[in-house]
Amino acid sequence: MKIETIAIHAANHVDPTSKAVIQPIVMSTTFERAADGSYPSGYIYSRSANPNRTMLENVLAKLEGGADAASFSSGNAAGMSVFQSLPAGTHIIAPDDMYHGLRNQLKTLFAGILTFDFIDVNNTDVLREHIRTETGLIWVETPSNPLLKITDLKKVSAIAHERGIKVVCDNTFATPICQQPLSLGADIVMHSATKYFGGHSDLMGGALITREKTDWWEKIRQVQQMGGAIPSPMDCYYLARSIKTLPYRMRGHVHNAQLLAEYLEKHPKVEQVMYPGLPSHPQHELAKAQMSGFGGMFSFCLKDGPDEAKRVINSLQLFTQATSLGGVESLIEHRASVEGPDTKTPFNLLRVSVGLEHIDDLIEDMEKALG
Ligand SMILES: Cc1ncc(COP(=O)(O)O)c(C=O)c1O
Repeated sequence: MKIETIAIHAANHVDPTSKAVIQPIVMSTTFERAADGSYPSGYIYSRSANPNRTMLENVLAKLEGGADAASFSSGNAAGMSVFQSLPAGTHIIAPDDMYHGLRNQLKTLFAGILTFDFIDVNNTDVLREHIRTETGLIWVETPSNPLLKITDLKKVSAIAHERGIKVVCDNTFATPICQQPLSLGADIVMHSATKYFGGHSDLMGGALITREKTDWWEKIRQVQQMGGAIPSPMDCYYLARSIKTLPYRMRGHVHNAQLLAEYLEKHPKVEQVMYPGLPSHPQHELAKAQMSGFGGMFSFCLKDGPDEAKRVINSLQLFTQATSLGGVESLIEHRASVEGPDTKTPFNLLRVSVGLEHIDDLIEDMEKALG
């Protein structure tokens, strides 16, 4: 089945009682037990499982080509469940430009429990040098946030698996429409469902999808069910609803991002555009090999420095100055000021989440703001 069909059908379930074509939202926290003590519906209590969550997890697993999926109340909760599933003392290798929220989570909440190195994961020599006997996990984020660096998933997974190390890939920027990390060797895919899956900047969510049902995956399930950082039935419903249009929304995001990136690259005030769809991107060939689309996110740097970046961002009319990404509306952000004092992001960099407005309007707005 093709991905457009999966997106529409794999989260839906015609209600057997009412025959409602769209699955009803089951708000009940508890489910009736039969006289013999069994649970005829298969559901017991909503922290463990709920019909809307089951269907959401079904579509998530199928979109990524995985064996199972677990959904969470946010992307950070999904990431944290991976870290919580690891034995104390496990060493994690993560990218030096890992999403700052998860990097800060590791440094703040897991200090003294896990150990970690933030390195250039895509540099084979550096990666090999940092592997220790207690290394249990390599975290990959590709394209990365906000520098849009590409990591070779096949290469990193092969190095990891030689040593029995697991690989988790944050696939938030690409979505399964543009990249399928499980087919490239990753063991688990992580998402902030707040972004493209939700697609309308109006809900928080997270997801993990596994290639195989292993003991490690069972532990992650336990973290989800015992920890309870789960999405509400309402959020599961809205996510399942949004995912139906994900393949078509992603086509629009990719189309607009490519054209806007090409426009900006030619602009005399722009120093550099970081978008894997541009031939000038240092890893364009790698992106072409492992992605089926280049996503809707890019960053660009202004020649005239941080003050000019701030002037441009404040002059735009259609691009809302806000954090986050993946909604139908275009957003722009001065990333270094959001990431805090230990940021490595250049101060003249603006990150753009390209929305689904008409490309002519987006280019016109940029043109006026750049002046
Ligand atoms: C790449 C990436 N991963 C993870 C997250 C965290 O997701 P959430 O904000 O849903 O917790 C974000 C949020 O911006 C992100 O951009």
